[in-house]
Amino acid sequence: MAFDPVLLKRNDGAMVKCAGDWEARRAELLDVLSREEYGYMPKAAPVECETLSKNNDHYGGHGLAEEMALTIHAPLGDYRLPLTLIKPDLPGRLPLFLFLSFEKELYQKYFPLQEVLSRGYAVALIHYKSVSSDDGDMQNGLAAVMPRSQDGTGWGKLTLWAWAASRVLDAMLLRPDVDANNIAVIGHSRLGKTALWCGANDERIRFVCVNDSGASGAAYARGKDPRGENVRIITHHFPFWFCENYQAYVDRENDMPFDQHYAVAACCPRFVAVSSASEDYWAGPESEKKSCEKASEAWEICGLKGFDAGADARVSYNLRDGIHFLSLEDWRFYMDFIDERRGVSW
Ligand code: GCU
Repeated sequence: MAFDPVLLKRNDGAMVKCAGDWEARRAELLDVLSREEYGYMPKAAPVECETLSKNNDHYGGHGLAEEMALTIHAPLGDYRLPLTLIKPDLPGRLPLFLFLSFEKELYQKYFPLQEVLSRGYAVALIHYKSVSSDDGDMQNGLAAVMPRSQDGTGWGKLTLWAWAASRVLDAMLLRPDVDANNIAVIGHSRLGKTALWCGANDERIRFVCVNDSGASGAAYARGKDPRGENVRIITHHFPFWFCENYQAYVDRENDMPFDQHYAVAACCPRFVAVSSASEDYWAGPESEKKSCEKASEAWEICGLKGFDAGADARVSYNLRDGIHFLSLEDWRFYMDFIDERRGVSW
């Protein structure tokens, strides 16, 4: 039965009328997305972080890198997640990107290290496959020590990667060189979906940077360009990214009790920046923009500026020329977005 996902309509049918109603509605959004699409986010687990080595070989000696191991005391055992922190050689607390990365290396096509550091940002690089493999093996890496419900709502890999990023943040927030008020998460493509879901859930993340995230990311599913990916295709190739319940919506996008603007809106009252590439039909630039537009009313009902209302907009969208990629231009868009809003209370 077709469902109209009205963002501000509560499960009991009443409308959200003011900022005071928002948190309860936000919890409903996260609940339906967890139950029907991504799987429930596990409860936080204790972590310990150890620095294994430090060097200042980067960026002419101005970039300080630390190789670290994060021990996650997960419900079924400990898991050691390797990660790298890189920061400019500056005093005080720095804004931090949690960078969900396809690659382990600092020098890679999606990370303009020198530019990011020169703008004063620290970056915690989280290699997603070091968390758990990108396949249907639910017993691998961190997955091996995380219980998973078999009732159709158990975490998919996007949730597991997002959860791991939040555990990295637990450790980063204990550091004297990290500015807890200016934490961002960033990811591209499948990791853009992950960044969005991580930011939607974790209220400590102030800036949610979502790059070319497409289907099951920022792209509104209903009425998507037929050249683009849909629920049938994504759940066929990547069923393990989601909970099993999501399979029920193959060829039934119009029946989903949600759409992707719920994930964007769950970041409200915090800040979301979405970037698309003009030739990225698979992801669906127009649909990515549509979720931003449709999510805007969450901020508005809270008395805040939502989508594209100038420098105080809390939701911003950028369409860059070209193909599917996390480019320097995208990073600049995110850093400009953050820099303009760093002083704003939240
Ligand atoms: C595939 C997949 C997309 C995903 C992309 C990526 O193209 O269909 O949903 O975003 O991979 O992560 O690179």
